[in-house]
Amino acid sequence: MFRRDLLSIVHPNPASRVALDLAEGIEENGVISSGVAYDPATNKNYPIKNGYLDLLDGRSGADNIANLTNFLPGAGRGYEPLWRVRSLNLLTGEEFSNQRELALISDLAGLDRGGLYLDLGCSAGLYTRTLAAQLKDRGDVVGIDISPSMLKEAARRARKLGTTPSFARADAENLAFADASFDGAVCGGSLNEFGDPARVLRETRRVLRPGGRVAIMGISKAKTPRGRRLQSFLSTGGVCFFAPEEVFSLLDHAGLEPDPPQTYGAVFFAGATRR
Ligand SMILES: C[S@@+](CC[C@H](N)C(=O)[O-])C[C@H]1O[C@@H](n2cnc3c(N)ncnc32)[C@H](O)[C@@H]1O
Repeated sequence: MFRRDLLSIVHPNPASRVALDLAEGIEENGVISSGVAYDPATNKNYPIKNGYLDLLDGRSGADNIANLTNFLPGAGRGYEPLWRVRSLNLLTGEEFSNQRELALISDLAGLDRGGLYLDLGCSAGLYTRTLAAQLKDRGDVVGIDISPSMLKEAARRARKLGTTPSFARADAENLAFADASFDGAVCGGSLNEFGDPARVLRETRRVLRPGGRVAIMGISKAKTPRGRRLQSFLSTGGVCFFAPEEVFSLLDHAGLEPDPPQTYGAVFFAGATRR
């Protein structure tokens, strides 16, 4: 599903700065459930089906093994019940519910201002659908991911919750959105999995309006020898881990003014404002 009026900020070809049009589609209350979007600059068509707008034009978008595991059949269905509901309990070593995590993320993203938010690497859409439900008619959320399995599940879960955020299969390293089109961006765990996190943050800054906020939850560099060994193994698959000062520096270099980081066990929460 994709909100029709948001096609105006979708620029699959950043150089042309031309937005998508709807060529054909089934639409209800301004939300396209299936159809074809069309780029007048390149004559390319982009399908809207299985709950998302596919902007990757046949490309996988994956640049490491960790990314490819999210393409496995069942990855989307299993992700939240098998991992996400308890992930922060395990990583922080304390009682850390998804509700507590989402309250922190909403706060860091400045959600009470309303507006349009981007969820970078949304997986099964935990942040996308929850923030959309919180915003109600004060704003909306676009969730992007490269995994078809995750996006299909994200749309299913959002519909089940009674929300209609927009979903796109799109690359966070080359955001297919117009400059200054979002009021905030959120990123739950994905910074650890992006092939080029610095580039994602530069792109995020580009699509944020001045004063726009970024809220990130991620996994820190391990401090124990055992944790370091495990992380070194996971790094071979493309996952990276950050010390708090590295997150600060990545945000700063991307043109974002970082807040002091918050750390809970192996998890960091980082907020920043677009300069
Ligand atoms: C750790 S999971 C995200 C979890 C999710 N944000 C949550 O809070 O439940 C990382 C996700 O990033 C996606 N991903 C990896 N590289 C990407 C890229 N370049 N662009 C968009 N999504 C990407 C993966 O497909 C995967 O679903």
